[in-house]
Amino acid sequence: MSAHKMMGFIFLVVYMCFFIPVQQARIDGPTISDLSFKNMDFAMNLYRKISTYHDKNIFFSPLSISTSFAALLMASDGVTHTEILKGINLDELERADQPDLLPKLFQLLNENITQNGSLKLDQGMALFIHTQFEAENLFQDQIKMFFDADIKAIDFSNTKGSISLINEYIKQKTNGKVTEMISTLDEMTQLMLINTIFFQGTWKMPFNPNFTYNAPFYIDNYSVVQVPMMFKDDKFYMMDDVPLGAKVLKLPYLEGVSMLILLPNKGMDYTEIDEEITAERFSSWIRKLRKVKLEVNMPKFKMEQSYSLHDLLPDMGMGSVFSNSANLTKLSKNERLKVSEVLHKAVIDVDETGTTAAAATTIGITSYSLPKTFTINRPFFFFIYHENTNCMLFMGRVIDPTKN
Ligand SMILES: *[C@@H]1O[C@H](CO)[C@@H](O)[C@H](O)[C@H]1NC(C)=O
Ligand SMILES: *[C@@H]1O[C@H](CO)[C@@H](O)[C@H](O)[C@H]1NC(C)=O
Ligand SMILES: *[C@@H]1O[C@H](CO)[C@@H](O)[C@H](O)[C@H]1NC(C)=O
Ligand SMILES: *[C@@H]1O[C@H](CO)[C@@H](O)[C@H](O)[C@H]1NC(C)=O
Ligand SMILES: *[C@@H]1O[C@H](CO)[C@@H](O)[C@H](O)[C@H]1NC(C)=O
Repeated sequence: MSAHKMMGFIFLVVYMCFFIPVQQARIDGPTISDLSFKNMDFAMNLYRKISTYHDKNIFFSPLSISTSFAALLMASDGVTHTEILKGINLDELERADQPDLLPKLFQLLNENITQNGSLKLDQGMALFIHTQFEAENLFQDQIKMFFDADIKAIDFSNTKGSISLINEYIKQKTNGKVTEMISTLDEMTQLMLINTIFFQGTWKMPFNPNFTYNAPFYIDNYSVVQVPMMFKDDKFYMMDDVPLGAKVLKLPYLEGVSMLILLPNKGMDYTEIDEEITAERFSSWIRKLRKVKLEVNMPKFKMEQSYSLHDLLPDMGMGSVFSNSANLTKLSKNERLKVSEVLHKAVIDVDETGTTAAAATTIGITSYSLPKTFTINRPFFFFIYHENTNCMLFMGRVIDPTKN
């Protein structure tokens, strides 16, 4: 078998809109690995929250969402600050005497992940501020320093013009992948925070498009769809989580990022597995992976998901930032501001492309006899993470690969 191709595109946008209701640092202690670990639990909690709303495909970027809220942390004070800190699961990392610690950690993490110039992970943050509105200089400086944010003045009362300006900005930041991020805008909007992330990964061990074939994918006992199934026969890292009733497969990209597939065993209800996914368990999967000769059958898939986080996050303890009791006094002293909208949009496209490369080192041995084939023909979970830091860049669930 010779070189086959596989490529993944992922892009997403988190945007927050704020409006007024009518009335440097040295790091001691926490490391970027601690931050990644905490982020992962936040990701799993958010995932469970989303999955209680529907049983469809799910896809989002925990890193992008956490980064957006880390910026909001610097704007907030009092109860709002505490709620956000707890909500994104970072309360144990904060040090009262080092207010810059968390933003600095996010900055270091982002630098670590993108260190290797060939990894195409672009995170960008922008703050659109109403021309009439004055944001505190300290906040503007911090968001620029730690998140390298673009700060732009915009006249939100011209809603049409603002929408096209913002959509154009997002389109440019996502290499044309997200074109119509917003279609409506409240003319009372005073401030909008936008975070975008764009990832392009190339499989270390690409699939040969010549071997892609049509095969059934069993959504549940009653529904079957036909999907283009990619095929690859090689050595892969996998493990069998017997107590959980699922198997784990690692598909590495070039440049230190991997996709981890979690495939519930035949007959297992994926909604039961939902509950069991934690950062601890994720770490144990990674430790117990071992290299085996395997025939992998994996569906090509594409999906686009949008979430209104302002509907989900109050359920996770972050209520006040969206209410009239929001305390965003570090953003502005003289105005009563709240966050009106947080929209998260993520798109993924998993396809064939790439070059061949060697696999990494072996970790751990399990005594289970592992199957010779790994056929992803039923609902599965996937996680795209940065290996050095275990930072979760994206996570998702595929119930029906034909639905995007
Ligand atoms: C796919 O098949 C075509 C036609 O047989 C061949 O020319 C090509 O090299 C094959 N591609 C790969 C990646 O093996
Ligand atoms: C915001 O929080 C700070 C610190 O707790 C407090 O001093 C201030 O009064 C609060 N402001 C508002 C508008 O709630
Ligand atoms: C990134 O972080 C990991 C884990 O802390 C560390 O081992 C690695 O050396 C860091 N890499 C760079 C380039 O900073
Ligand atoms: C699907 O079929 C299996 C085996 O026949 C059965 O155990 C399971 O309960 C069924 N699931 C549903 C959701 O009907
Ligand atoms: C980037 O990562 C690859 C694979 O891990 C490695 O071979 C290469 O030396 C790295 N390049 C830099 C500039 O760090």
